[in-house]
Amino acid sequence: MTSEIPWTRIFPDIDHRWIMGLRQGDFATFFRDRDLTGEVRVERRRWFSDEPEKYAALLPEAAAGMRETCALARTLGAQVAAVESSPLNQLLELGPAWEPDLVWMHPDQNGVHRLLGGAVCFPSSWAMTDMLGRPMSEVHHLVPGLNALLARQIDTFLTKLNPGIAWQRENWGLSRDGNLNHHPSRPRVLLDETIRPDDVWVRLEHQLLLKLPNSGSVLFGIRLELVPLADMLADREAARRFTRLIATMSPSAAQYKGVAAARPALLAIAEAAEARR
Ligand code: HEM
Repeated sequence: MTSEIPWTRIFPDIDHRWIMGLRQGDFATFFRDRDLTGEVRVERRRWFSDEPEKYAALLPEAAAGMRETCALARTLGAQVAAVESSPLNQLLELGPAWEPDLVWMHPDQNGVHRLLGGAVCFPSSWAMTDMLGRPMSEVHHLVPGLNALLARQIDTFLTKLNPGIAWQRENWGLSRDGNLNHHPSRPRVLLDETIRPDDVWVRLEHQLLLKLPNSGSVLFGIRLELVPLADMLADREAARRFTRLIATMSPSAAQYKGVAAARPALLAIAEAAEARR
């Protein structure tokens, strides 16, 4: 499984900085079920039925994009009823029908893309409901230095998207548990100097962007994959690039990514893995 992960794409061989990292992708491949056990969708169904208001919401302007996405989901075999129900009920059906999380953005009258809704139960420390109606620059405001570097490029990219052509990218982070749901309201053990090789996971977010032809909204899919740190470090080139990124991260980026207190321990773990080869 680990050997299939394109680590050299996920960890560029550079000193750490925020990057666009976009490439053309494939919508059907991205959304196709991967989890043969079905456990991921069972867990999704639980979050969306237990606390729908925490994980799913949409403004009226998102309804058209959401319905268009439901139709696409049906073409891929997802179990989403075609009968008309309220937009929120449809969203609560769509959320657990697929393994990835979903968000919709739409340009306002000034052409600025705003987050108008979504179904997000496996977030990496953010609440989709806090972001409703906000432009991308505000969605990204917690990432230190990101807007100064990339806000304009992100806006231009979203504005120029061609309908029907999917784009993909990855984000990665580290966590001290193998839980999929990192909603900010949930308890969390942080990374610090006491970490051990077997209690850290690489949290990979595979992301897809697709401008929907009819509504003009942009669908943003986020597929989460958790990989034990030790499995990633077993890949020598991945470990080398990871070490460089961790070592060169600015203090504010390391703080934001939750690795500031654990940085020396992480570097020692990577070094020990290399020494054992
Ligand atoms: C062209 C599109 C985009 C680019 C290039 C981009 C880039 C980035 C980058 C570089 C980060 C920092 C990741 C890190 O921790 O290493 C980030 C974080 C984040 N982005 Fe984006 N982003 C894009 C679209 C979006 C969209 C559409 C959303 C809508 C929800 C979004 C939501 C977030 C959030 C919530 C975070 C912080 C949480 C996290 O670390 O995962 N991004 N983004």
